[in-house]
Amino acid sequence: MLTAAGVHRSYTLPRRSLFGPAAVRHAVRDVSLDLAAGERLGVVGESGSGKSTLLRVLLGLDRPDAGTVQFRGRPVLAGRDLGWFRREVQMVPQDPYGSLDPRMRVGSSIREPLECLSVPGDHTARVAALLAAVGLEPDAATRYPHEFSGGQRQRIAIARALGPEPAVLLADEPFSALDVAVRAQVLTLVQDLVDRLGLALVLVSHDIGVVQQLCDRVLVLKDGVAVEQGRTADVLRAPSHPYTRALLDAVPRLPDL
Ligand SMILES: Nc1ncnc2c1ncn2[C@@H]1O[C@H](COP(=O)(O)OP(=O)(O)OP(=O)(O)O)[C@@H](O)[C@H]1O
Ligand SMILES: [Mg+2]
Repeated sequence: MLTAAGVHRSYTLPRRSLFGPAAVRHAVRDVSLDLAAGERLGVVGESGSGKSTLLRVLLGLDRPDAGTVQFRGRPVLAGRDLGWFRREVQMVPQDPYGSLDPRMRVGSSIREPLECLSVPGDHTARVAALLAAVGLEPDAATRYPHEFSGGQRQRIAIARALGPEPAVLLADEPFSALDVAVRAQVLTLVQDLVDRLGLALVLVSHDIGVVQQLCDRVLVLKDGVAVEQGRTADVLRAPSHPYTRALLDAVPRLPDL
């Protein structure tokens, strides 16, 4: 459904010297992936490995230097009219504090993408159904973001992403701003919604535990290269690349009591 073929994205860094060549950072190098309907892919790798860059390219927010992204066989080109694509592929933001407009009532925030994308139907009814789906009271619609906790805000952001009934959710560290107990609740909510609605998911995370819980497949990025890709259970049981092994060894475990 969503495919990337040979995607490459580099950035030219500011020159340190007038005379030398401009330095180039290759953030994503020759990455290919294929996401089927209803499939959940985790993207893991340490800081700076290119996870967010890959996600931006998949979302059509950033143009790759080489390679292509396609959704249901249609090219996704950054800078072009992507309305058709936005209805199908929605993003869950990382930071529930920065992602909602503080001056907008929650109901209006959830309604906004419905209006922008000309989603047919009764938007008021849809907002109410979305709030119920993420476990918030109906009166949340008339309140402002500052009246909600971080976990509740992330629920609102999820409701907003689900409004246009996308086939795919893309999420860049959607749980990292939440404390551990709330994270578990929101994670369970996402898992439940993704199951119920049959959504496909691309989840960027440096938390392998989260990926293990939510994702069927995992792609491991190192310095922009996909060093490993496979079924989550297989990769975690028998990582084939030393870097994946190192990532797994870095997961803290409770000592046996
Ligand atoms: N706009 C930009 N300009 C220049 N370099 C960039 C830009 N965006 C990303 N990079 C570089 O590309 C590389 C990959 O960055 P990216 O943000 O994709 O990593 P990441 O895996 O998401 O890291 P993190 O886990 O810290 O979020 C990094 O070396 C980063 O410095
Ligand atoms: Mg990132």
